[in-house]
Amino acid sequence: MAGIRSVLEAVFGEPTEANLVDALRQDPTAWLSWGSIVAADAARIVGHVLGTRMRVGGAAAVALAPLAVRPDRQRSGVGTALVEALVAAAGKRSERLIVVLGDPDYYGRFGFIPAIEHGVHGLYDGPEFQALTLVKPGAVGLAPRGEAVYPAAFRTL
Ligand SMILES: CC(C)(COP(=O)(O)OP(=O)(O)OC[C@H]1O[C@@H](n2cnc3c(N)ncnc32)[C@H](O)[C@@H]1OP(=O)(O)O)[C@@H](O)C(=O)NCCC(=O)NCCS
Repeated sequence: MAGIRSVLEAVFGEPTEANLVDALRQDPTAWLSWGSIVAADAARIVGHVLGTRMRVGGAAAVALAPLAVRPDRQRSGVGTALVEALVAAAGKRSERLIVVLGDPDYYGRFGFIPAIEHGVHGLYDGPEFQALTLVKPGAVGLAPRGEAVYPAAFRTL
């Protein structure tokens, strides 16, 4: 989708992330119909977040990436609204875990903590590799734990 490509190219200054999103869109095992969320004003798309299907310990989880807000619209709450919208959409669909690789100062405000504290590990172990469980205390079904496996398109980055 051209509007999303335009945001990603403006934010990252090169096409890697835009190509990643296009590759994920072509992968029916990764693409989630509800996982691509845009923020727009009257004129154009100003931000985008993507959630795709990944596996953690063999179970279904959501990979949050990329998240991007046009440079001239950053620090005005758009990124926050996008992350909150993705978390809400995932919760509605009874998803149990969202995984992200990013700045802990940023994602911590949404409740993400180091993935290893949820028993999730993978290629990117370290403080930037974070997870958010959506399983409410007392609810049936624990959040997945174990090795995180991203969709194939991420592995060609
Ligand atoms: C990171 C990004 C998505 C944040 O979106 P945004 O719309 O600017 O963020 P918000 O306005 O919702 O910011 C909320 C808070 O996070 C802080 N923040 C913004 N960007 C941050 C960053 N890169 N690291 C840490 N904190 C950040 C802001 O200070 C703000 O707090 P405040 O309002 O109390 O000052 C955006 O800056 C962006 O697209 N950056 C370039 C691409 C990128 O780094 N993507 C993330 C890949 S994981």
